[in-house]
Amino acid sequence: MSSNVVLKMNSFLLLLITFSALAKFSSASPRILALVKTNPTILKYHKGALLNGNITINLIWYGKFTPSQRSIIIDFIQSLNHHVAPPPSVSSWWRTTANYVGGPRTPTLGKQILDQNYSLGKSLNETHIAALASKLGVGPRVNFINFVLTDANVAVEDFCMNRCGTHGYTRGKKGKYSAYAWVGNSGRQCPGLCAWPFAKPIVGPQTKPLVAPNGDVGVDGMVINLATVLAGTVTNPFDGGYFQGPATAPLEAVSACTGIFGSGAFPGYPGKVLVDKVSGASYNAQGVNRRKYLLPTMWDPKTTTCKPLL
Ligand SMILES: *[C@@H]1O[C@H](CO)[C@@H](O)[C@H](O)[C@H]1NC(C)=O
Ligand SMILES: *[C@@H]1O[C@H](CO)[C@@H](O)[C@H](O)[C@H]1NC(C)=O
Ligand SMILES: *[C@@H]1O[C@H](CO)[C@@H](O)[C@H](O)[C@H]1NC(C)=O
Repeated sequence: MSSNVVLKMNSFLLLLITFSALAKFSSASPRILALVKTNPTILKYHKGALLNGNITINLIWYGKFTPSQRSIIIDFIQSLNHHVAPPPSVSSWWRTTANYVGGPRTPTLGKQILDQNYSLGKSLNETHIAALASKLGVGPRVNFINFVLTDANVAVEDFCMNRCGTHGYTRGKKGKYSAYAWVGNSGRQCPGLCAWPFAKPIVGPQTKPLVAPNGDVGVDGMVINLATVLAGTVTNPFDGGYFQGPATAPLEAVSACTGIFGSGAFPGYPGKVLVDKVSGASYNAQGVNRRKYLLPTMWDPKTTTCKPLL
């Protein structure tokens, strides 16, 4: 078993701290922004397998999720593959994964399991996550991801310390690997870390939280992390894909762009996003069923930049 800790917040927090320390010298602020921006992001391809073509996403809902919470996440997954107008859309966000080796990738929703009675308790570690993921089985093809989603009552080792989600893999028959992933609802535990910018950040400049696009800070935050982990799993499923830094704590497709939701972002400011005139909700991507989502920026191998949707 191997696990990639994604959403390492350390470098982001460091930037925040650096920023707030330097921001005292107000005349220097514009230069600080430039400094942050010029840090080049290059994800190296390590020549290993990626997940390509049709990719099945299986879900295990661990704990209590209301039907409306589940539909926010299910609609997001369905939106990856469905063109909706006008842009920007979830599917246009996802299309950047086609620029990674292996070409277009088509995710579809597969199996779902409800585990409402916390079969392994409310305090989990990596072994538990892998065990829950394995309940979704292996296959039918190599290209699947077994996703564990934990509710707001579940503590997961290192959740809210330095991670909001992870992905890893297990070795199966004939040396084949299968990918799994986990994301938790941080609503009651650390929204300022894992549901930012829908909650006040735990450190750094105290900007006003944005209104969550589906009215659920915890689950809208899960979508951000699901998007991050999903892109990381597809482009670095077995440690040999695209990443920067050490394989044990890599920066991947989206985690390399942490904190950027729109153009002009800097630590503490998510960047330019759209605002729904009626609800006041912030978003940058439309999905099926008139859904709106706020998606993190993905690194684009074509331009070698973190290029926001807006
Ligand atoms: C992906 O699925 C579609 C529709 O189910 C099918 O037509 C296509 O051949 C599949 N592609 C691959 C690469 O398996
Ligand atoms: C979960 O627990 C509740 C209450 O204890 C019980 O009524 C229900 O049958 C259980 N469900 C499953 C799937 O075990
Ligand atoms: C997770 O906890 C179980 C006991 O509940 C333990 O047997 C297992 O070794 C732990 N795994 C890790 C990776 O710490």
